Amino acid sequence: MGNEKVNVTVKINGNEKRAEVEPRTLLAHFIRDNLGLTGTHIGCDTSQCGACTVLVDGQAVKSCTLLTVQADGSEITTVEGLGQVGNLHPMQQSFWEKHGLQCGYCTPGVMMAAVGLLQQNPNPSDEEIREGLEGVICRCTGYQFIVDAVKHAAQLMRETEAEVQLVGEERL
Ligand code: FES
Ligand code: FES
Repeated sequence: MGNEKVNVTVKINGNEKRAEVEPRTLLAHFIRDNLGLTGTHIGCDTSQCGACTVLVDGQAVKSCTLLTVQADGSEITTVEGLGQVGNLHPMQQSFWEKHGLQCGYCTPGVMMAAVGLLQQNPNPSDEEIREGLEGVICRCTGYQFIVDAVKHAAQLMRETEAEVQLVGEERL
């Protein structure tokens, strides 16, 4: 008992994946180790940094706080599902244009949290962006460029009515 594997099925970046996992496997580890989607980062062991943030059924969640079995049957979007070189999602485009990153370690989680925020509130104020992203920690930027990037992304997304583009590639 305890370590018996269980079957899970998720739709991740548009691709259905089935796997056997131990019941204790965290979603963050499943995404990185089982599915090889290493854009989702792990930056702490205290559920504080937010580098592991992904969308689960459209909600931004810290994937280190969820067991994989809790995500069974869910639709998950990781940073790899946002866009790719030559076809960037407006959030990625905006972080690039507005210098919303330095080392980039926090960036996948920050962008996924920001996409989740804009799905709830397509036209947030600076203060609402700061509040919406308070669960993700950036050690480099001082946050102002991140706020600028998210505001720009919000504008681009309103203009284009862009939704999260699922362009994830088959990885397994
Ligand atoms: S790895 Fe830090 S909150 Fe998940
Ligand atoms: S860009 Fe380095 S931690 Fe955010």
